[in-house]
Amino acid sequence: MEIFYREHLHADEEIRFICEGSGYFDLRAVGSDQWIRIEVVKNDLLIVPGGTYHRFTLDTNEYIKARRLFTELPSWTPINRPDGDTHPIRLQYLQDMSIKAQ
Ligand code: LAC
Ligand code: NI
Repeated sequence: MEIFYREHLHADEEIRFICEGSGYFDLRAVGSDQWIRIEVVKNDLLIVPGGTYHRFTLDTNEYIKARRLFTELPSWTPINRPDGDTHPIRLQYLQDMSIKAQ
């Protein structure tokens, strides 16, 4: 949980299907840098785009069972903040977001 709660990003999409239990994904808003908390429960599918800073924590039930899904090779190396700031996927993400925000 310590690793998951550390703010990080991935070079690929993080795709999670919640099989049982519940928890919280916190995603950083673009621009304001505020946390956006997303509660996940059984049967939710969450896709966090590559380059999105995020973290995960359990709720008071302290139980989750999730399936990791991948579009290509399984890879979920966390890149902690601020190390991800200069990663190509982060730069691409920021560029994509600014185009969508216009
Ligand atoms: C992960 C989530 C928990 O990287 O952010 O597996
Ligand atoms: Ni992650």
